[in-house]
Amino acid sequence: MNLLVTGGAGFIGSNFIKYVLKNYKDDTILCLDKLTYAGNISTLKDELNDERFTFVRGDICDRELVDNLFKNNSFDAVINFAAESHVDKSIENPEVFLRTNIIGVEVLMDAAIKYGNIRFHQISTDEVYGDLPLDRKDLKFTEDSPIKPSSPYSSSKASSDLLVMAYVRTYGLNATISRCSNNYGPYQFPEKLIPLMTINALNGIKLPVYGEGKNVRDWIHVEDHCRAVDLIVREGTIGSIYNIGGNFEKSNIDVVNQILEATGKSQNLITFVEDRKGHDLRYAIDASKIEKELGFKARVSFDEGIKETIKWYISNRNWWEEILNDKYIEKNNEIL
Ligand code: NAD
Ligand code: DAU
Repeated sequence: MNLLVTGGAGFIGSNFIKYVLKNYKDDTILCLDKLTYAGNISTLKDELNDERFTFVRGDICDRELVDNLFKNNSFDAVINFAAESHVDKSIENPEVFLRTNIIGVEVLMDAAIKYGNIRFHQISTDEVYGDLPLDRKDLKFTEDSPIKPSSPYSSSKASSDLLVMAYVRTYGLNATISRCSNNYGPYQFPEKLIPLMTINALNGIKLPVYGEGKNVRDWIHVEDHCRAVDLIVREGTIGSIYNIGGNFEKSNIDVVNQILEATGKSQNLITFVEDRKGHDLRYAIDASKIEKELGFKARVSFDEGIKETIKWYISNRNWWEEILNDKYIEKNNEIL
C-alpha cells in the first residue's frame, strides 16, 4: 500500500510508521507533519534513510499543500494521527486544538473525496466518551456510549468524529474511526504522565501528581495500538468505529509508584499538586468489537511494557535530553 501518514513525527504516528515499514516490505509512506513542539524529526532518523519513506513538513490545514500531495501521489489510504494531543495545553489555549483537530480533518477528508474517495482512517480517543465513576468497575465505554467530552481537547476530537461520520453518510467517504485509551512506550513527548514521571525520577526531581492521584487510566502499549490501527485500515468495515484498549486500568499514583520502584528512586519525590480543571476520573475501554470482528487482542501486559519503556528512556537519554534543552527544535528547523 502507498500510505499518507499525518502527524508521523509525534509519538503514535512515528511508532506506526516504524511498524508498517518493518512488517510490509512493499509498502511506501509519505509522512506529512508540521513539526509543532510535539513533533521531533530525530524520531524518524532511520526512516529518513529508507527509500520507501518520504517526509514533508507542512500543516494538515493547508488546503493547497494537501491538495497537491493528493494530486501527485496515488495514496491507497490516509491515516490521520496529526493533532494537538495534550489536555493541559487545551485548557490553557483551546484555539489551536479547534483548528488542527477539526479543520485539519475536514481538509484531509475533502482531498480524500476529491481524489477518488481514498480510504481514510481517523485516530480518535476514548476521551470523547467523557469519564466513568471510580466506584463502578462494571462500567466501560462501548462504541455506543454517549459522546460527552470534558476538555477542549476531547471536545475537538469528538467534533472531528462527528464530522467523519457526517462525511461517510453525506459523501460516502470510505472512512473508519478508532478510539483508543492511554498509550505509553518509546518516543512519547515528556509532557505526558509516564515519560514525564520517568524522566523526573531519572533526574531526581519532583514528580507532580494531580489531586490525590486517584484518577484511573486504561493503559495500552503503543505497539498494540499500532497493530490495531493497521488491522482496521486493511480489514475494517467502512463507516465503523472501533474502540481499542489494553484492559490495564491503573490509578495514577500506582503508575507513579511503579516507575519509582523500577528506577530505584524514593517515594519522597512525589509531590501532590493542584488538580487539573475538569479532570476526568476514570477511563475504561470495552474492546470486544475489534476483538470479535478483527481478532485483535493487546499482547503487551502493563507490568512488562512499563519496564521495557523505562529501559528505553534510560538507554535513549539523548532523545529526551534534546527535548529538555530545546535542541530538537533546532534540528526540526533544518527541515524546510
Ligand atoms: P503527539 O502530540 O505526540 O504528536 C502529534 C503530531 O502531530 C506531532 O508530530 C505534531 O508535529 C503533528 N501535528 C500537530 N499539528 C499538526 C498540523 N496542524 N499539521 C500537521 N501535523 C501536525 O500525539 P500522539 O500522542 O502521538 O497522538 C496521536 C493521535 O492519537 C492524536 O490524534 C491523539 O488525539 C490520538 N490519541 C492519543 C493517545 C495517547 O495516549 N497519546 C491515545 C488515544 C488517541
Ligand atoms: O485516553 C486517551 C488520551 O490519553 C489521549 O487522547 C490524549 O492525547 C493523551 O494525552 C492522554 O490523555 P490524559 O490526559 O489521560 O494523559 P496525561 O498523560 O496528560 O495524563 C494522564 C493522567 O495523569 C491524568 O489523570 C492526569 C495525570 N497527570 C498528568 C500529568 C502530565 C498527573 O497527575 N501529573 C502530570 O504531571
